[in-house]
Amino acid sequence: MSKMIRSCPTCASGNKQPLTRKRKRTLAEYPPFPYLACMSFTGGSVKDRLSAYAQTRGIQLTARLGFGKDGSVWATSRSTAVKVFEQPHAYEAEQAVYERLQSEGVSQVLGHRVPNMLQTDSQLGIIEMTIVEAPFLLDFAGAHLDFPQEFPEEVMQEWLASKQEEFGPNWGHAAMILIALERMGIYMLDVHPGNIRFQDPP
Ligand SMILES: Nc1ncnc2c1ncn2[C@@H]1O[C@H](COP(=O)(O)OP(=O)(O)OP(=O)(O)O)[C@@H](O)[C@H]1O
Ligand SMILES: [Mg+2]
Repeated sequence: MSKMIRSCPTCASGNKQPLTRKRKRTLAEYPPFPYLACMSFTGGSVKDRLSAYAQTRGIQLTARLGFGKDGSVWATSRSTAVKVFEQPHAYEAEQAVYERLQSEGVSQVLGHRVPNMLQTDSQLGIIEMTIVEAPFLLDFAGAHLDFPQEFPEEVMQEWLASKQEEFGPNWGHAAMILIALERMGIYMLDVHPGNIRFQDPP
């Protein structure tokens, strides 16, 4: 059987957070597990949810900042970014990580700006945050807290090789960012240059 290793090779500290961390929500506030599995956003399509969010806050969506597999992100008339999620689990994951970052008082990690979460709407599946410029670190929809996942070593070797190729000379710094996140109990799995962005070319 393959040897199992914790998290990824570049974040092998396996750091565990003390159980004394202050949480903003308790388990009692979550629906029981079977209901979570079929929970969905109310408010309809991504477009409908975005419109409802903008309308109720009296703001306009001015330009799309980007999009990916978990959602799309829009600049607003109050100079913020609004991310609308495709899936509840991705919304929950990202919100939980931003809460952790806020409780740690983090606004940047090793020189990479981290958005500040400003407002959330769990019904519409939307997080409003500050707009950041490169170099930045964002997108925690694929991250999880406190417990590293285990992957077979050959999977991790392949992953490492692909990250070295994607990031090129910046990989060492990106790996240090992952280690810094781990020290806060944040395990980021969706690691690519769109999420850990280095300085844009002039
Ligand atoms: N707060 C922000 N400030 C500036 N640009 C942002 C912000 N949030 C997102 N973006 C831009 O939008 C892009 C897509 O956002 P994000 O990575 O959060 O979406 P995603 O669907 O989770 O992407 P992925 O395909 O990586 O899972 C980012 O790579 C970035 O260029
Ligand atoms: Mg992304």
